Amino acid sequence: MLRFSRTASSRIVKSSSSKLWLPVSQRFQASSSFPAALTAAENLVQPQKSNQFDPFTMVSGEMRVLAKNIAVLLGSGHPTLNRVASYYFEAEGKNVRPLIVLLLSKALSKIPETERTRIAIDKYDVNTQEEFKGTPKAFSFAGQNPLDSISPLRVLNGINPSIILNPLSKPMIDLENAELDKKNGILPKQRRLAEITEMIHTASLLHDDVIDLSDSRRGRPSGNIAFSNKMAVLAGDFLLGRASVSLGRLRNSEVVELMSTAIANLVEGEFMQLKNTVFQPNLNQIENDNTVKQIPEPTGKVPAKVSEYSVPTTNLITHEENVHAAFEYYLHKTYLKTASLMSKSSRSSAILAGCNEDIVSQQVLI
Ligand code: FPP
Ligand code: MG
Repeated sequence: MLRFSRTASSRIVKSSSSKLWLPVSQRFQASSSFPAALTAAENLVQPQKSNQFDPFTMVSGEMRVLAKNIAVLLGSGHPTLNRVASYYFEAEGKNVRPLIVLLLSKALSKIPETERTRIAIDKYDVNTQEEFKGTPKAFSFAGQNPLDSISPLRVLNGINPSIILNPLSKPMIDLENAELDKKNGILPKQRRLAEITEMIHTASLLHDDVIDLSDSRRGRPSGNIAFSNKMAVLAGDFLLGRASVSLGRLRNSEVVELMSTAIANLVEGEFMQLKNTVFQPNLNQIENDNTVKQIPEPTGKVPAKVSEYSVPTTNLITHEENVHAAFEYYLHKTYLKTASLMSKSSRSSAILAGCNEDIVSQQVLI
């Protein structure tokens, strides 16, 4: 590296003048073709003036109504719970996860209907050894409105104090959404999936801020600071509950399975971050903030699962092996904590579009 820079600099010195220290564009003013070439090169790497390919612009309509639509799914009989649950949606977040779902849904709409035929499996108990052919049609109530409840509303409403406050009892007839769906080819269920994805993510942020003792999020005091740890945790749980209701209403058991797995993955990833078994291999104790705590011995009443990340000791392996194990651990943790929700919601979007298994597996990350 050193030799390379010495050679390079001597080459520069030989062919240079004092102009070397000027900005590139001024150095080559003498040559008329160079500024033109430079402008052409700059245009290649600079954002285009046209926003035709700007991801946010492509689904801007859907993104604009995202928070509003989520607000319809929230709302309880308790005014403070309403405040905490909607708190993070009031501030401008990046909304990367719903953006991915919406863009992918738009792209999938271009696939001809002839290639969007999920095959029905005519049995309930699918043998895992068999080739997977897609959600049985019996489990996918295509064409049903995701806003309609499956159980009677009187069951869902339960003893909620006010039927008016309970969004589960409100029909949502929204012409703006219907127009948007038609324009971009995004199905109402895919739009709902984008909202569910953001609700799950936001629930995890409310919990994460308690775990990380955060003091701010999205330019404002974080939920734990603005309300309290207890309320932030409960609001996250409430968001998960409401996201699950909406998920059930998609009437697609494969999507429910995928998204529920993503929720479990979030917790697994966060737990891997909390208790690093590569560097803290003793499974009988928890090391945190320089304190060591012994944890209760398993009683043996439930079978103990062996974790693939239970490295018994770091002393017996080489430094390289240790680094490799730590990096593998990091990648797995990051997949579970961040990538899983993105990939499983993307896959769900393809399933809701009715794409056949080839498209679901080849076009969408699993
Ligand atoms: C942000 O990480 C946190 C996450 C992406 C996921 C956190 C997951 C949990 C707390 C598990 C609970 C899950 C649910 C569904 C309730 P970060 O701390 O690295 O990023 P930050 O700087 O944005 O806080
Ligand atoms: Mg955090």
